[in-house]
Amino acid sequence: MNATQQNTNAPIGLFDSGIGGLSIWRELVRLLPYESTVYVADSANCPYGFRSKTEIRAISARIITFLLNKGCKLIVVACNTASAAALYWLREQFNVPFVGLEPALKPAAQASQTGHIGILATQGTLHGELLKNTIRTHAQLVQVHVRVGTGLVEQIETGQLDTPMTKKLLFEHLEVLLAEYVDQIALGCTHYPLLQPLIDQILAGRAKAIDPAPAVIRQVKRLLTAHELQTSMKTSAQKTPVHQFYSTGAPEQLQRMVNRFSASPITVQSLSLSAINVSRDM
Ligand code: DGL
Repeated sequence: MNATQQNTNAPIGLFDSGIGGLSIWRELVRLLPYESTVYVADSANCPYGFRSKTEIRAISARIITFLLNKGCKLIVVACNTASAAALYWLREQFNVPFVGLEPALKPAAQASQTGHIGILATQGTLHGELLKNTIRTHAQLVQVHVRVGTGLVEQIETGQLDTPMTKKLLFEHLEVLLAEYVDQIALGCTHYPLLQPLIDQILAGRAKAIDPAPAVIRQVKRLLTAHELQTSMKTSAQKTPVHQFYSTGAPEQLQRMVNRFSASPITVQSLSLSAINVSRDM
């Protein structure tokens, strides 16, 4: 795909099981302020963490079909769990550039002084092929300690970013990793950076939590350049990006977070995944 086939002012598509992908979206609008976006929060199927690979692939295919119907020129799988279950497969099925999420093990391994790094992620991410490959490529020389962040996605989805219960859960997860002498913790679920203030409070300088969002957006930038897909901004009208948000479940929570992160008012729309037919030859 190149600029002759694709409108460079087309939006970038992003999706997650819920609001977690907003930690990627907010970095995208910060670093690529002229790009338009379409974001899908699959709240009806959240959490993805314990779903099977087959299920996540089927769900992702529907969402990507929707995003392609909206004209998206590049897709960010703004969810570690969906990337672990489906990224390689999606690249084979759809003719569009993809950027996926994987825990930031390379910077964690490079920065570690103790030789122990941690990953906080969902079960699906920790058992995926993608993580095994990342460890093999980037973290051979350190000890990698993993922890499933059980319960955190549910707390975040219900807007409990700073409640005593969220703090207690997070404390338990982080202390288990700290007990292994980790000094770098890769946040392997896009929901978790939304808890950054609480994470910093608990870690209190004992370890650094790594949010992958800046590296992900640098990769988006590289791919846009490689495929000649950066927005061209020929007219001033095109300089104003359009951001669309869809939720497959109750839109209120996504709406609250969008209001928090977006400079201009945006209304979250409802989306029914069952109404989307995935073409058999994709
Ligand atoms: N934001 C998703 C991720 O990065 C959340 C996973 C879930 O829905 O369990 O993995």
